Amino acid sequence: MVTVGVFDSGVGGLSVLRALRAELPQVHFVYLADNAYAPYGEQAADAVIARAHQLTKQLRTEHKVQALVVACNTATAIAIDDLRKTHPDLPFIGVEPALKPAATLSRSGHIGVLATRGTMQSARFTHLLGAVRGAADRPLHIRCQPCDGLADAIERADAQAVLERAAHHLEQLRRQDADRPAIDTLVLGCTHYPFARETLQSLCGPEVV
Ligand code: DGL
Repeated sequence: MVTVGVFDSGVGGLSVLRALRAELPQVHFVYLADNAYAPYGEQAADAVIARAHQLTKQLRTEHKVQALVVACNTATAIAIDDLRKTHPDLPFIGVEPALKPAATLSRSGHIGVLATRGTMQSARFTHLLGAVRGAADRPLHIRCQPCDGLADAIERADAQAVLERAAHHLEQLRRQDADRPAIDTLVLGCTHYPFARETLQSLCGPEVV
C-alpha cells in the first residue's frame, strides 16, 4: 500500500486530508499536526523552512512516506521549493490560495483574499497574483488581507475569538479601496479558514461566494 504524508501547523490540513481520503481511498495517509509550532503564519520564514525540513525527515524516517502533501498555504509558499531541492526523489504536493478559480468565478472581478502574513509576504504569492492578473481577460481588483490571529483562534476552537478576528480582518479588507464596489468572491487562502466558513459567510452576506 502507498503511504503518503500530510502535514500542517495544526488542524487546518484536515480540510485537505478529508478531500484526499475521499479521492484516494486506497492510499494510507499519515497526518502530522504540528501544534507545538503553530501558528506558522506569523513566524520568520527561516523558522518555517527549518520546521518543514524536520517534519519531512520525520515522516520519511518513521513512516517511509512515498509522497508528501504540504497541506498548508504558508509552508507551501515559504518552504516547498527548498524541500523539493533537498529531496528530489520525493514528490511534494502543495496548496496555494485559490486565486485562479476565484478569477473565473467572480462576476464583478472584485475579489478578496484572506491568508496568513507569511503567505502574503512570500515571493510565491506575489508571483501567483501577477500570473492570475496577467492571464485574466478583464481587469481584476484583488484585495489581500493578512489575518493575524485567525488561524490561531481556529486552532484553539475559540468561537468568540474566531468571530472577533474574522470581523476585524473583513472590515480591514472592506476599507481597502473603499470607493470601489464590494467584493463578490472571497478566497480562503489558509487551510484553517474553511473551519470558520459559516462565520465568514454570515459576516460577508449571502451574495459573496
Ligand atoms: N494552515 C496554514 C495555512 O494554510 C497555516 C496556519 C498557521 O499556522 O498560521 O497557511
